[in-house]
Amino acid sequence: MPKALRQLNKEHADFAKLLDLLDRQLAVFAAGERPDYDLIGAVIDYCMDYPDAVHHPKEDLIYGILKSRDAELARLVGDLEEEHRQIGAMTRELAEAMRRVLAEELVDRQSVHDLTQRFVRAYRHHIALEEGRVFPAAEQALSEDDWAGIDARLEHRDDPLFSDAVIERFRALRANIDGLAVIAREA
Ligand SMILES: [Fe+2]
Ligand SMILES: [Fe+2]
Repeated sequence: MPKALRQLNKEHADFAKLLDLLDRQLAVFAAGERPDYDLIGAVIDYCMDYPDAVHHPKEDLIYGILKSRDAELARLVGDLEEEHRQIGAMTRELAEAMRRVLAEELVDRQSVHDLTQRFVRAYRHHIALEEGRVFPAAEQALSEDDWAGIDARLEHRDDPLFSDAVIERFRALRANIDGLAVIAREA
């Protein structure tokens, strides 16, 4: 598998951990308790950072090439680029909601819950489409030169949450994720 696709799949597995975390926080809210808004806020800040700034642009490069090849591949790519924009917009909306919750401003918590739920569902659906249909097609259709060209145009920087170079803003979130990984291994 090309390096770029391996990396994208790895990032999807990482994002899935964050979506699971959001699901657990949604369940806390549904049980009538206060979710950990600091943790949710960190997830959303991360999503605006690496996924929106690095992961999605990387995929857009691949989708641009696929669409230029033939109509069938263009059909397969479908709305994925538009979904990147929609996910980005939802993420910014959620970030603003988190800022207001944490600032103790008057916020309709149910609407924050519903927006978070829509965000998790949209993200999971998007990732499933990419992994199920579009990445396999890209692996078939793109040449080594295509992948080399993509690599050359990519912004190479460390993931601020899942790499070893975890930044201060995401330390608590990373500890939470790693703690759950330890629990899962011990179970
Ligand atoms: Fe994507
Ligand atoms: Fe993706």
